[in-house]
Amino acid sequence: MLFDDKKLLENATEYCNSRGKLLLSQDRLGYGSDGTVWKTSVPSAVKALYRQKNYQVELECYRRLQKANIKKINSLNIPVLEGYDDNLWVIEMTFVQPPFFLDFGKVRLDRPPSDFYDAQKLANAKQEWRALFGSRWKEVNLILFQLSNRFGIHYLDPRPGNINFGDDDDDDDDDDAWQSEPGIDYSEYD
Ligand SMILES: Nc1ncnc2c1ncn2[C@@H]1O[C@H](COP(=O)(O)OP(=O)(O)O)[C@@H](O)[C@H]1O
Ligand SMILES: [Mg+2]
Repeated sequence: MLFDDKKLLENATEYCNSRGKLLLSQDRLGYGSDGTVWKTSVPSAVKALYRQKNYQVELECYRRLQKANIKKINSLNIPVLEGYDDNLWVIEMTFVQPPFFLDFGKVRLDRPPSDFYDAQKLANAKQEWRALFGSRWKEVNLILFQLSNRFGIHYLDPRPGNINFGDDDDDDDDDDAWQSEPGIDYSEYD
């Protein structure tokens, strides 16, 4: 547990108390560099974040997706926004099972970051992402394209913890899929 994870638990608890919900503090769904997520008795998932900026962009993503009534992208479940608190930096969303796509704390909205947009950096990042997802990379790449194209959500944190296909063999690489992966022309987002 990170040193100030205690503060996140306090914030998540305060959020739930103020809304008459019960935080299942023993049922921590996960944690990462941006925050910690617990299940509630609703059931729902409550994410408490360390930083306001991550909170704001993640909330804005869930708002955009909610507005378009998105619950899935391709076959992947996407949490739906249930509530939030601007002072506690807490977001409540539906609890989802794999296969899922979540964690919008590190996106760029509307424009890809200029440094990231640099062709070489983007190419390097995409090589790493391909290696992480193996034969699933084509699907991931398509979803990233859809998110940016449709919602202005430039997702910069594709990793198996956030994009979970529910595969038992997550590291099953498929070299043919690597070779045949179509390129995406990011210049259209400029
Ligand atoms: N809505 C949810 N439903 C089910 N599990 C979730 C939900 N949100 C997060 N999780 C679990 O908690 C983990 C951490 O959440 P995440 O949003 O990725 O936090 P961080 O931004 O700190 O990485 C996820 O990898 C996932 O396993
Ligand atoms: Mg994460």
